[in-house]
Amino acid sequence: MIKKGIILAGGMGTRMSPLTKAVNKQLLPIYDKPLIYYPLSLLMLSKIKNILIIVNKGQLNQFRKIIPNGNNLGIKITYKEQDKPRGLPDAFILGEKFIEKDNVALILGDNFFYGQNLQSMLLKCSKLKNGARILIHPVSNPELYGVAKLNNKNRIILLKEKPKKFISKFAVTGFYFFDNKVINYAKKLKPSKRNELEIIDLLKKYKNSKNLYADYVGRGGAWLDTGSIDDFYKASSFVSAIESRQGLKIACLEEIALNNKWISKKEILNSIKFYGKCEYSNYLNKLIK
Ligand code: G1P
Repeated sequence: MIKKGIILAGGMGTRMSPLTKAVNKQLLPIYDKPLIYYPLSLLMLSKIKNILIIVNKGQLNQFRKIIPNGNNLGIKITYKEQDKPRGLPDAFILGEKFIEKDNVALILGDNFFYGQNLQSMLLKCSKLKNGARILIHPVSNPELYGVAKLNNKNRIILLKEKPKKFISKFAVTGFYFFDNKVINYAKKLKPSKRNELEIIDLLKKYKNSKNLYADYVGRGGAWLDTGSIDDFYKASSFVSAIESRQGLKIACLEEIALNNKWISKKEILNSIKFYGKCEYSNYLNKLIK
């Protein structure tokens, strides 16, 4: 079982300036909650309770204001500052002490998933003992992502970061599950042409040792991008449409914690006090009525 998770919430969000000049991108709203709630909810749906959030140097207080320590969610949140982005695999080098001898999941702070079979897929992934698992999803613009090509036995035969020439429509999403070897693999990586450690190079190490597995988030599930202002707007509309239709919230952290039996009415009441009078608190109130 994977019991530890890392959220990589650094990055400058340059593409979204001026919105990101004073506030980290992961704290900007997707409809009714900060973006970081969505990846955090996915780790919680995977039953991962021990979570490290990596943030940019100087932005720790912004995050602590909204997610202080996880007590009201029945989870443990630890923070680590990163002085500059060195690529996604740096998460395992910075997080070495946090990971210890355990296996670990990594989710990028700006990844949004939604879908009916998502939780059962995540629970399967978090059972990982050896190797690595990735989630792949068909997209219309694979040249913007890491891409995986699979053979007819569903084995990954090719991995490429942002391929200029079409090789496959399956993007490698930003949610990964690794065994403990990931720390050593990450340490051995060399920076790429853009002077960063590349997650695709890390995945290739697992592929070469025939220990890399992929699960499909098929067309019935959604993996949305939140890289640009337009993406934020579209993801917000998506959440708003579903939430208002169903009267149920996507990524309500307290609701997931309550369903997981990690917290009780007492912590929900604490959260209501913390958020103050707002629509989100009204929703929490309904959960305990
Ligand atoms: C990163 C990874 C890429 C992956 C994507 C998912 O891309 O390098 O392999 O498909 O996240 O969000 P970046 O956000 O750095 O462009």
